Amino acid sequence: MDKHIHLVSFLIHSPVNHTNMSWAHPDDRRLQMMGDVHLWQDFARTLERGLFDGLFFADTPGILDRHRDSMDDAIRCGVCWPTHDPVVLLSALVAATSHLGLAATVSTGPSHPYGLVRQLSTLDYLSGGRIGWNIVTGHLRGEHRAYGLPILPHDERYERAEEYMQVCYALWDSVGDGAIVADREAGIFADPARVAVVDHDGKYFRCHTAGPTWPSPQRRPVLFQAGTSDRGQQFSIRHADLVFAVQPRLEGMKRFIAEFTATARAQGDRVPAVSFGIQPVLGGTEAEAQRHIDALRERIPIDVALTRLGGTLGVDFSAMELDQPLREMATEASQGLMKAMTSMLGDRPFTLREAAMHYGLSIGIPQLVGTPEQVADRIEEIWRETGCHAFNVTPTINPGSVEDFVDQVVPILQKRGIYRTEYEGRTFRENLGL
Ligand SMILES: Cc1cc2nc3c(=O)[nH]c(=O)nc-3n(C[C@H](O)[C@H](O)[C@H](O)COP(=O)(O)O)c2cc1C
Repeated sequence: MDKHIHLVSFLIHSPVNHTNMSWAHPDDRRLQMMGDVHLWQDFARTLERGLFDGLFFADTPGILDRHRDSMDDAIRCGVCWPTHDPVVLLSALVAATSHLGLAATVSTGPSHPYGLVRQLSTLDYLSGGRIGWNIVTGHLRGEHRAYGLPILPHDERYERAEEYMQVCYALWDSVGDGAIVADREAGIFADPARVAVVDHDGKYFRCHTAGPTWPSPQRRPVLFQAGTSDRGQQFSIRHADLVFAVQPRLEGMKRFIAEFTATARAQGDRVPAVSFGIQPVLGGTEAEAQRHIDALRERIPIDVALTRLGGTLGVDFSAMELDQPLREMATEASQGLMKAMTSMLGDRPFTLREAAMHYGLSIGIPQLVGTPEQVADRIEEIWRETGCHAFNVTPTINPGSVEDFVDQVVPILQKRGIYRTEYEGRTFRENLGL
């Protein structure tokens, strides 16, 4: 367990993060933010003021189209649509910050490793080593439809992603230490003998070139992964620096860490750090915080909740009985989230309605509802009880709930000696302590 808690803000470059309909809340400014890069820059500076390790954009590169087999609910209610590109936004946030880590989700589905390495390593170089990549294999039908690609079976997507990573590593390592000499007198920029040529002819990818960028301080971005099926865990144990997991309850978090650590140890020595999603909901009193969450819940029509849940789990729930227990079903979409959302609510399984509303409010991320002191207590409890490395903190209202968290909860954590009072390192990986 690290000596202090690490925090990563968990966002989406769309009208909502993980609380659907939040764009319609009178205090929310996300719609203005989407059209004004300066507001995004202010947002990032607030996180930096709160000494967050970084911010991290999830991404839904297609439209959630499973519910009623249609995109209409997602479009009508702004459920992760419009879906703006997070990597483009990162470059503006690089310019506005100096310590904050900046990560984006990029799916291996429609992209080629060369383009990904070129794009993220350019940003990593420009930012002095502050970039991260959340590797996803593309579980959304809408993503495949948008790019006109066939949907590969779940485990084959991971097999393809393994090859994708091989090409990435070869490109990241191609330009050796000392290769760039930039000798003005001699007119020599770099030593070709220190630049390894990548020659890859695989089942899914071909790549014949040299590394496209100046090696950055991190050399490769911080690697995040959030697939928690058996196959997803194998992948993350091999590649991830940090694994993101959603577990609605403390018991589930503890079980996840125990099982994941055991699986990693059985596979070898490498045990990636784990970060759990949390959603703080603050109020002057517990009752006020509860009223805030109730008001957010009331705005979410059940069809919106089912759009978000069904899209991720790859299931059209529209014909199913809402008050029946949600049983685990076979899916080619997100098996990890299927497991999390069919887990127990106390001593009984979630009903479909409960799971959908939980998912619609926070994608199953537990809400820590109360005064700043109570929220700090819960964060400390989860950190101590589970031994997790970090938290993905998803806001409700933008940017208000982030400002409140930074102003009200961060000082309490600092006073308890469990949160940093200044950045320790220069790069994202250094600050994360990985
Ligand atoms: C916390 C969390 C965040 C995720 N973020 C994204 C995302 O932004 N974009 C995406 O396409 N998939 C996302 N996923 C889905 C997973 O990365 C993964 O592709 C999916 O769960 C299928 O893998 P699995 O069956 O191994 O769980 C996320 C999953 C979790 C648990």
